[in-house]
Amino acid sequence: MHALYAVFGQPIAHSLSPCIHAMFATQFGVALDYRAIEAARDDFARALDAFAQEGGIGANITLPLKQDALAVCVELTDRARRCGSVNTLVRITSGWHGDSTDGAGFLGDLRERQSFDPRGRRCLLLGAGGAARAVAFALADADVATLAIANRTRARAEDLATAIGDASRVRPIEWSALDDVGTFDLIVHATAAGHGTAPLEWPPSLVTPSTLCYDLAYGDAAHAFLRAAREAGAPRVTDGLGMLIEQAAASFAIWHGRTPDTTPVFDALRSERPLAIDGA
Ligand code: ATR
Repeated sequence: MHALYAVFGQPIAHSLSPCIHAMFATQFGVALDYRAIEAARDDFARALDAFAQEGGIGANITLPLKQDALAVCVELTDRARRCGSVNTLVRITSGWHGDSTDGAGFLGDLRERQSFDPRGRRCLLLGAGGAARAVAFALADADVATLAIANRTRARAEDLATAIGDASRVRPIEWSALDDVGTFDLIVHATAAGHGTAPLEWPPSLVTPSTLCYDLAYGDAAHAFLRAAREAGAPRVTDGLGMLIEQAAASFAIWHGRTPDTTPVFDALRSERPLAIDGA
């Protein structure tokens, strides 16, 4: 029997994780059984127990279960505890050990694939939900000059800035003040607005001819933000496909002790999924 892994989420049918981990495993000749398991929040703990009973030794966790995963862990890494979510579980004798590779995945894609060094840069994060948190901590740790956080519900942006606790660099700003805060080197879109019908409104005055605009989502969900970014004059725009692959590679390394080459995996998946504004 092959070693058993899975990704848990809801919905999960279209998750790319089984495909990504299969491609990584092929690079090392590792045999694994990596499944996609659909679980509602109120059924997650039971589904995870059943998975462990079956021999499951590692799992990725995606929406909407990342905070529930934190709660089931007997042990957490500092980075998972700080950003309040878990995307990687490792089976240990006493239960589950939890980690979060989202922030490292984001920085890996930013630095390597986008050739963007965040040190000393002015950064803006749109959103303060689960997806935004890991990115906010990662950017703060990466020595950005400033990180402004704007969120529809201001209190959530304030809570996130307070949790990071570096008021000289990291500050919440009013969404309505975005017209008047100057420009940014990096704008990260981390709201769920791309999944809905109402487009997100943000002023083009935030963008310069060298701003990188990065949507954490990929596929159609990234379309509205990336289109608005291009129309605002941003020369560089990207979606979250690279981050997805980099966080998966970091999980793979935790489980298997080997770091996969993400470039051929990214190239294969990108050729099937062009940026939402470049595709047909
Ligand atoms: P996720 O894990 O995907 O980040 P979440 O924790 O529910 O999901 O957070 C969703 C984020 O998208 C929040 O920042 C939310 O803003 P609020 O905190 O005000 O709810 C943001 N969001 C969702 N729909 C939005 C919309 N139509 N316009 C602007 N922000 C939106």
